Amino acid sequence: MQINSKTSEPEGNFSDSFLEYTPEVAVATRPIFERVRGVLPEIEWPVHAPYVAAINELKQERNAVVLAHNYQTPEIFHGVADITGDSLALAREGAKTDADVIVLCGVHFMAETAKLLSPQKTVLIPDLDAGCSLAASITAEDVRLLRQRYPGVPVVTYVNTSAAVKAESDICCTSANAVEVVESLGVERVIFLPDEFLGRYVAGQTKVEIILWKGHCEVHERFTAADVRSYKKQFPDIEVLAHPECPPDVLAEVDFVGSTSGMVNHLHQNPASRVVMITECSMSDNVAVEFPTIDFIRPCNLCPHMKRITLPKILNSLQRMEHRIEIDPAIAARARLAVERMVAIGRK
Ligand code: 13P
Ligand code: SF4
Repeated sequence: MQINSKTSEPEGNFSDSFLEYTPEVAVATRPIFERVRGVLPEIEWPVHAPYVAAINELKQERNAVVLAHNYQTPEIFHGVADITGDSLALAREGAKTDADVIVLCGVHFMAETAKLLSPQKTVLIPDLDAGCSLAASITAEDVRLLRQRYPGVPVVTYVNTSAAVKAESDICCTSANAVEVVESLGVERVIFLPDEFLGRYVAGQTKVEIILWKGHCEVHERFTAADVRSYKKQFPDIEVLAHPECPPDVLAEVDFVGSTSGMVNHLHQNPASRVVMITECSMSDNVAVEFPTIDFIRPCNLCPHMKRITLPKILNSLQRMEHRIEIDPAIAARARLAVERMVAIGRK
């Protein structure tokens, strides 16, 4: 069934195609809308639905999978994604898929990580400018200088970095496994890059001495301990969950600290009636679909990089097979080792 054929543009002029909400599209996408109706106003669905239908159809033609991070908007997360999760899950699951094409709905470092682990696959990102303030906070040259300053001290690098920075590192980590990775090295001190707050959080969980860098997530650094106190005052029964990229004084006041998927797992194991997630806006929307009985209080700090990914750009990406992630082979070989060492830890 061809359900995405009505466009206002001549065939081949893909990027500005306007897709109509036809009765066929309405029927084909109804089950998806029923799933997200609690978090997406019905009036918006005619705008999203034609793209959802077209993307899902084109994915099959291209033998493509869509990987979406937990911060993608609900119409992407629930509408077109085949695999969803935190950075670690996307890296692992992307490597396992037998699709020819991966469309990474997240930020650039996530697409690079997918390409490192699946060099034979075509990895696409719908917007090349989807960056990350942490990845922008450090260069490969910075890491080389740190190594000179601390000879022999291993470098643990958060995946929120470029492939060039990973290539200068001993091992990568994500927010889900940072403590485990640091302790896996069996040393007394490590250089931990580039997220200062995640590094401080790790330092509080281990005896290993942590040498820090001053990178910050521009989204999580904006939350304050006063925000947490005001949620608790307003809602005495609230369970407060936070991402470890938040400042230490915020983390000190919350009930649980974890990666984006760590927070979801926590809710599965500790059902609460009211929850606030101190993290990016879309996270609560996506999770609310899974936990309809929880009342989510939704503080909203948007990640402008994550929000560059939209349904029209995903469709455009699959139609034109762009933007392809390519990594200099000399950098890729070394960066891959750092990522593979991290992934291997989870398998032990
Ligand atoms: P997670 O690995 O916890 O999903 O975090 C990635 C990220 O960019 C958080 O800001
Ligand atoms: Fe980077 Fe922060 Fe956006 Fe995550 S939320 S991608 S760490 S800027």
